[in-house]
Amino acid sequence: MQQLLQGVNVFLVGMMGTGKTTVGQNLAQRLNYRFFDSDVLVEKVTGQTINDIFATQGEETFRQLETQVLSELASCTKSVIATGGGSVLKPKNWSYLHHGLIVWLDVSLPILTQRLAKDTTRPLLQTTDLSLKLQSLSEQRNPLYAQSDLRIIIDREQTADDTVEQILELIP
Ligand code: S3P
Repeated sequence: MQQLLQGVNVFLVGMMGTGKTTVGQNLAQRLNYRFFDSDVLVEKVTGQTINDIFATQGEETFRQLETQVLSELASCTKSVIATGGGSVLKPKNWSYLHHGLIVWLDVSLPILTQRLAKDTTRPLLQTTDLSLKLQSLSEQRNPLYAQSDLRIIIDREQTADDTVEQILELIP
């Protein structure tokens, strides 16, 4: 498996709540890769939480920081990278994502709505109608996620370990 990947990075993309961080950590362990989370790196660079960045500087500033972090990660090797759910929005980000194998974690809206019902960490989800918001975000983003190299459909019962196995089986 590792020989086939030959040190190429794996970028996990997908909506908020799809488990990119947990799956990414487990996958990195299995591949003997390093693990990075682009949101965590944005927070480290700025010394602010994602919520604070959105509140004080706005979404566009966050998107620029996200692009900066992705550009730096693109030059890594042997890394699994959990990206923020909106990383697919900027065409420029794709030039960085294409430095690795892009894996879309695809979770259905009812499961996402259930998982994110009590979330307070994601500024885009501070809304009175979570399911409508997730629906509109996924309608906008699914055609972009669909440009990934691999699509992993995750069902309700599935654990992060199951997802890692699925990815490992599909890695070309
Ligand atoms: C966002 C997803 C978040 C984070 C920010 C914006 C999005 O990351 O980058 O809140 O636009 O979908 P996760 O997908 O890791 O929750």
